[in-house]
Amino acid sequence: MHKTLTEIIKNRKSIRSFADKPVSNDIIKEMLQKSSRAPSGGNLQPWKIYIVNEKSMKDFLQFQKNWKGKEEPPYPIYPEKLKEPYRTSRNQMGEQMYSLLDIKREDKIGRLNQMLKNFDFFGAPVGMFCFIDKQMGLPQWSDLGMFLQTFMLLAVDNNLDTCAQESWSLKQNCVKTYLDISDDSILFCGMAIGHANMDDKVNELNTPRRPIDEWATFIE
Ligand SMILES: Cc1cc2nc3c(=O)[nH]c(=O)nc-3n(C[C@H](O)[C@H](O)[C@H](O)COP(=O)(O)O)c2cc1C
Repeated sequence: MHKTLTEIIKNRKSIRSFADKPVSNDIIKEMLQKSSRAPSGGNLQPWKIYIVNEKSMKDFLQFQKNWKGKEEPPYPIYPEKLKEPYRTSRNQMGEQMYSLLDIKREDKIGRLNQMLKNFDFFGAPVGMFCFIDKQMGLPQWSDLGMFLQTFMLLAVDNNLDTCAQESWSLKQNCVKTYLDISDDSILFCGMAIGHANMDDKVNELNTPRRPIDEWATFIE
């Protein structure tokens, strides 16, 4: 039975451990094509996408392991002094994940090793990188979000799993060098794409949302 849009939205969640099961570029291409129906201000379609899969995934991961170049993260992933309630939500998410994995607060190495799994695409067979031209501003960055969410929902529709990864922005020089991308572009994020390994506890994480009355106001 085909899933409804509501079911697809409810079923999407970030997956941080993938099964060793390939995904063809044909299906990724079809999903990208459909994702480009996402709206964008002035129909600019400001996304620039690169996919690594199979041979290029192996090559890239090897290149990355050997990378000794300097990194200059292109944007701060979070504001420096994150206000409430955002700070609490962020901390809760981290604590929820580490307690599921039984990695204690004092276990800095354990936490770091978990974070570093980002740079292996959590074992996913396919990796996506999403760039944007440096010329673009906040409205166009928000267009990327719509494109990426459309893609992540289509992934669920195709029985695939994803994790968006801002962490790749910390390695933007490495990624740009491997892909031979000019300085006109900024790496917004990466994305791991594949089939969830449901034997890994990390994938049991279900993140809560703040109640609607805290962020939506209906004016009488
Ligand atoms: C743009 C973007 C970047 C993200 N970057 C990372 C990341 O680098 N590493 C990671 O483990 N999760 C990352 N996430 C996943 C979020 O932590 C996750 O979406 C959030 O905790 C809500 O959980 P859910 O996706 O399972 O609903 C990112 C999500 C988005 C939308």
